[in-house]
Amino acid sequence: MAQQNIYDNDKFFESFKGLRENEINFNDLIETPILLKMMPELKGKRMLDVGCGMGQHAMQYIAKGASFVLGTDISEKMLCYARENNASSNIEYRRLPFEDLDKLEDSFDVVTSSLAFDYAEDLCDVLKKIYALLVPGGKLIFSTSHPVSTAYDGVYDRYTRTEDGIRLYANLHNYNIEGLRRFKWVVDDYEVYHRRFSTLINDIVSAGFIIEECQESHLPEEIISKYPDKFDGIYHQPDFIFFRCSKHI
Ligand SMILES: C[S@@+](CC[C@H](N)C(=O)[O-])C[C@H]1O[C@@H](n2cnc3c(N)ncnc32)[C@H](O)[C@@H]1O
Repeated sequence: MAQQNIYDNDKFFESFKGLRENEINFNDLIETPILLKMMPELKGKRMLDVGCGMGQHAMQYIAKGASFVLGTDISEKMLCYARENNASSNIEYRRLPFEDLDKLEDSFDVVTSSLAFDYAEDLCDVLKKIYALLVPGGKLIFSTSHPVSTAYDGVYDRYTRTEDGIRLYANLHNYNIEGLRRFKWVVDDYEVYHRRFSTLINDIVSAGFIIEECQESHLPEEIISKYPDKFDGIYHQPDFIFFRCSKHI
């Protein structure tokens, strides 16, 4: 199965770090508040955060009472940042691609993943491996780029705009053609996998999960009016999609 590790590219890592540490970033303003609202009670829970990146989420889960968090990621640079900046006695960071999650001999009450499955060629296979790691009744809560957001090829603008640049419509490119999408984002050949909405649902269900909740990202009005230039036109499409799933008891 194809694997990429763009976060260990120096230029990409520095740029992503800059974006993630900026006060106005999509993760803290849009993604994290929705994800945290979808979490079950975390007090005393053993957790796995897949594609943990710089460890911000692992720290949030400990603050909410989780007894242990294992953060796994493919990128040494991301894990190094996590170990230096988001360490705690009950967090462990380990280099492990999500394609190899079946190598873990452990079980977890709650598994999470934030914006990492964009890079999974075979999402159903990854989800099956996560299912096997959960205790009966355990939960998986994850976010990924929304299918309308990955229906993009980088050649044309994501939006149809007025002459003044105001976003009028969101554009979709080849929504029905699934697979690898390559476009310029920091580097020339940034890669993500595009899946139709139905494929996403069927991958989750085929892995054995029950879907309990689904959310699509949207910004609270107070954030839009606080940063009007940054988020003009945000109503046209959701950037992220979120699922809370559970393993059968
Ligand atoms: C957009 S970042 C999100 C990081 C973190 N979850 C957060 O919310 O800040 C995506 C993460 O997925 C990781 N990743 C990409 N491919 C992976 C793979 N095959 N196995 C594990 N992690 C992977 C990247 O290294 C990166 O840390």
